Amino acid sequence: MKVALRCISCEKTYSQDTRSYTCPECSGLLEVCIDLDEVRLTKGMLEQRSFTLWRYRELMPVMDASRAVSLREGGTPLYRAPEIAEYAGVREVYIKNEGANPTGSFKDRGMTVGVTKALEFGARAVGCASTGNTSASLSAYAAKAGIRCLVLLPAGKIALGKLAQAVLHGATVVGIRANFDVALSLIKEACAKYGVYLLNSINPWRLEGQKSCGFEIAEQLGWEVPDRVVVPMGNCGNISAIWKGFREFRSLGLIDELPAMTGIQAEGASPVVEAFRAGRSEIVPVKEPETVATAIRIGAPVNAPKALRAIRESGGCAESVSDAEILEAQRVLARCEGVGVEPASAASVAGLRKLVEMGEVDRSERVVCVTTGHALKDPEIIFSRYEKPLEIEPSILELGKIISSGA
Ligand code: F0G
Repeated sequence: MKVALRCISCEKTYSQDTRSYTCPECSGLLEVCIDLDEVRLTKGMLEQRSFTLWRYRELMPVMDASRAVSLREGGTPLYRAPEIAEYAGVREVYIKNEGANPTGSFKDRGMTVGVTKALEFGARAVGCASTGNTSASLSAYAAKAGIRCLVLLPAGKIALGKLAQAVLHGATVVGIRANFDVALSLIKEACAKYGVYLLNSINPWRLEGQKSCGFEIAEQLGWEVPDRVVVPMGNCGNISAIWKGFREFRSLGLIDELPAMTGIQAEGASPVVEAFRAGRSEIVPVKEPETVATAIRIGAPVNAPKALRAIRESGGCAESVSDAEILEAQRVLARCEGVGVEPASAASVAGLRKLVEMGEVDRSERVVCVTTGHALKDPEIIFSRYEKPLEIEPSILELGKIISSGA
């Protein structure tokens, strides 16, 4: 496979052995470029393979896919969701449920490739700053690879399930008395100083794994591309990765069309939405981001330029939603479709509903909403919002009262 790194700002290209995470010349974001003329991947070849991320190994830039650090990530379900279609007011909605990945979020797609690259580069330790899911995923993949893992988290702002995972998998977990953006600057400095391999989404190799979500959506819809894909945005790597996936599939002639990429942020953390509305290519960072969707509580997303490019190139849009809208969508997904997601994930559905109401999205569209993380990631938000379970003596009389009350 012929692979290079290219800066999305100054377009300078670098060899794939370059260890820098950003452009050595201008500090712009780097993107992995695969020479697609050399790739042979057909629908027939895919039919023979099991439904995991590594079925797309021809498009995964690692030296030896058979030695990848893998927990069988990818291959997540795509549900047809008629109740959500009615809720949002569009013809057809599908839920791409990324919570079904091994550690319960889409991050596993990135980490299987990212940790495999870390080993290729000879790293003995990996690190990240995280709002929770990245750390949960990285600690599991580092454990599988047998290397050290350092995670920095904004203290007191991590959902309990995610924190439990990082601790369980044996990472060195450090709470920072600051927000995610500050934690990310600190881990970048620490990685450079102590030779730790950084696996935040600024790492272009990690995003290569995440592009497989786009591949899967195309395949699961029988090689028909939806009109729109709606993605919650935090640090903004995922939306750009999914877009890259669709573009590569089109270049290979596997699909004919491209979807409109639509990014949703929480109102209290929406610098990319502001930049999109204003027609700017630079964001103005939000100093003190705040939202119930702690996964996307990010004020200065590092991948904002990639996300804005994906949204604009694809003819998509960006919108923000309130915490109340997020929590309502979480409830509808859980109660009407049986899909339990964490708040950040529900932002995609809440955003779609809002965009339809605003007239930005046509009611005739066929839309895929990506739900990024599992409900169990954040049990505290559930117990703070819903009634506690009933408790009774083991008596049929008492139980009968409850049954007859219709509770
Ligand atoms: N949804 C969930 C559940 C997330 O955990 C994240 C990001 C996103 C959406 C946004 O994805 O950053 O690619 O735009 N979580 C990161 C973390 C930041 O540290 O776990 P993005």
